[in-house]
Amino acid sequence: MTLASLRKAEKKHLIQTYDRYPAALTHGRGAYLYGPGGKRYLDFLSGIGVMALGYSHPAVTRVIREQSARLVHASNLFYTPFQAELAKRLATLSGLDRAFFCNSGTEAWEAALKFARAFARARHKSNRMLFLALENSFHGRTMGAVATTFTAKYREPFAPVMPGVSFVKFNDVADLRRRFSDRVCAVCVETVQGEGGVRPVSREFLREASRLTRKTGALLICDEIQCGLGRTGRMFAFQRYAIKPDMVTLAKPLACGLPLGAVLASNRVAAAITPGMHGTTFGGGPLACAVALEVLDVIARDGLLARVEELGSYFLSRLDDLAARHGEVKEARGLGLMLALELKSANAAKAVQKRLLARGFIINRTHETTLRFLPPYIITRSQIDEVVEALDAAL
Ligand SMILES: Cc1ncc(COP(=O)(O)O)c(C=O)c1O
Repeated sequence: MTLASLRKAEKKHLIQTYDRYPAALTHGRGAYLYGPGGKRYLDFLSGIGVMALGYSHPAVTRVIREQSARLVHASNLFYTPFQAELAKRLATLSGLDRAFFCNSGTEAWEAALKFARAFARARHKSNRMLFLALENSFHGRTMGAVATTFTAKYREPFAPVMPGVSFVKFNDVADLRRRFSDRVCAVCVETVQGEGGVRPVSREFLREASRLTRKTGALLICDEIQCGLGRTGRMFAFQRYAIKPDMVTLAKPLACGLPLGAVLASNRVAAAITPGMHGTTFGGGPLACAVALEVLDVIARDGLLARVEELGSYFLSRLDDLAARHGEVKEARGLGLMLALELKSANAAKAVQKRLLARGFIINRTHETTLRFLPPYIITRSQIDEVVEALDAAL
């Protein structure tokens, strides 16, 4: 297997949805990924926020081995172990009541939109079907998810998408108040925008969204698919804001690379859903759920939330220092180990990413000018120093 042979074969056989980086990967260990010929990369992307515990984590590998020998899948027609246990753990951690499990972030988001519409219909028996989403949001790739996603290139080629969505200016409380009405079914917020450039929602904005939705009986949905499950140093990013959403969506790191998404909801919302209204063949299978329980155990046992908080502020201080010294850098920002360096031009950001890859560091670029860092929670201080030195040289 070589990069050139894979490139050629994929060009011929795959529907061309991806513009991949020029690297092939065969295996990983800890924070390192390896390619053909032993090429080694230090990973500051974690498969886009998924591999929070790093690669080939021994506890995860053990659970996969043991559970795959017992039961991988049986469908949701039957009772299987782990779904209820995982739902209970996530409810305890979040303060919400119940979970629905699916296979990806997009599916979790799509389910949350459906649950919100069903709740509005059951509870209010009225035409309150409008979603307020935020500018620069990203919620996934299905028709409902792209309808609530701001970036036109994800939405417009597939029009007409789901109607009934209005976009609010990011962190603009006045715009939120202007657009809010009793026609609103739910306000949709990524607690920290990921694809939109690693931007935390402001305290004032999220609290106002919470107040307005409480006042009319609309719902507040936090998309924590990228920023949830420890990424910001709290189990859930919304816990930094002293609010409680009505629904939260999760996915990426939940089962450490196995496909698993979840919607957490209050009992009030869940009461609108009855058997047969929504479902999935694969979602919440015993293998993925067993791994997710292990992921939560490892996060607690190894004190990873405190580690993310501590190393995140160290990393941010080093990025701030780069911002102060390099004219090409506009600012450093982010929360926990969800960080970004905003450059002044897309070309510079592209060039820095390319140079880092050539030197054996994986980072990515989002929103054209933003260098994004989503390292595994097990990253070390000296590995952070290494990437900062590489960035310094590239800038
Ligand atoms: C905030 C957010 N929502 C939804 C999604 C979609 O998740 P998935 O790619 O697993 O479908 C993503 C993926 O990047 C995301 O970051």
